[in-house]
Amino acid sequence: MALNADVLRAYVGYLRDLGVHDLYRRGDPQAGPVEFAEESVAPQTSLPQTSQPQAVAAAQPVAVVERVVEQVSAMSMPIQPLPTPGFLEAPVGRLVSFNDLAPLPAAPVPVEQRAAALRAIQEEIGDCTRCPLAYLGRRSIVFADGDPGARLMFVGEGPGADEDASGIPFVGKAGQLLNNMIQAMGLQREAVYIANIVKCRPPQNRVPEPLEANTCDPFLLRQIDIVQPQVIVALGATAATYLLGVKQSLTSLRGRWHSCRGAKLAVTYHPAFLLRDPRQKGEAWKDLQMVMAELGLQAPARKPAQ
Ligand code: URA
Repeated sequence: MALNADVLRAYVGYLRDLGVHDLYRRGDPQAGPVEFAEESVAPQTSLPQTSQPQAVAAAQPVAVVERVVEQVSAMSMPIQPLPTPGFLEAPVGRLVSFNDLAPLPAAPVPVEQRAAALRAIQEEIGDCTRCPLAYLGRRSIVFADGDPGARLMFVGEGPGADEDASGIPFVGKAGQLLNNMIQAMGLQREAVYIANIVKCRPPQNRVPEPLEANTCDPFLLRQIDIVQPQVIVALGATAATYLLGVKQSLTSLRGRWHSCRGAKLAVTYHPAFLLRDPRQKGEAWKDLQMVMAELGLQAPARKPAQ
């Protein structure tokens, strides 16, 4: 993670919301708060030697940021109560698959009740401040898009600028490619369900931090449990990592079935990656063909060349 003033402010704001106000006095109850002047946050290379912990903190802003992040990471639960009794506490520093994060629902939500059930989650999320992304410039909380009764669900990483502006996942360039992939499978976008690991845009589209993903995960898990898709496609490494609870190369995860919340899960390249390296589109198409075979889908007939 880049240690800069914005990140530091976000974490400090997050800690304040958690009710932590004595962050700067730990280890030296007499010392006053450290001033976080803009210029004091830039990493310094030559540091004055001092035995005062607080002075060290002031002189080593990077160390302070690390301490803030450490304290945030050490917190075992987000501010608001965990979404459903039975959830494990937000895992700290270890990956837990969605299968192990909560028991499977006892019974499926009837199709006609799914839209309302999803709306209730969205309302519960509200104007979320459960993780630092709330303080890092997000404009929208991008919940999901598509059919609550879909048989196929796509999970991406997190909203980008276009999604943050519109509040809808996958509407930018990567979204247009995802739409093409969906159409090539013989489906309309409206017939599938699309969501992300995190619902708020990480600054500069960086990969979500574990704390951010873990905080958001229980909501996505509940969305999956309500929609109960037959197949989930994890788009890219971040989605695969958090859904499956393993950190492995995409190559080793592609081309075979995994399981997630009672659905079959396939891993493929993220459309943004395919835009950067279009040579991999053929490989992604193989993954989608595996999905199509499972769902009994046929690619639409190609228009004859004129
Ligand atoms: N990339 C993602 O992972 N999700 C989006 O919604 C948009 C781009």
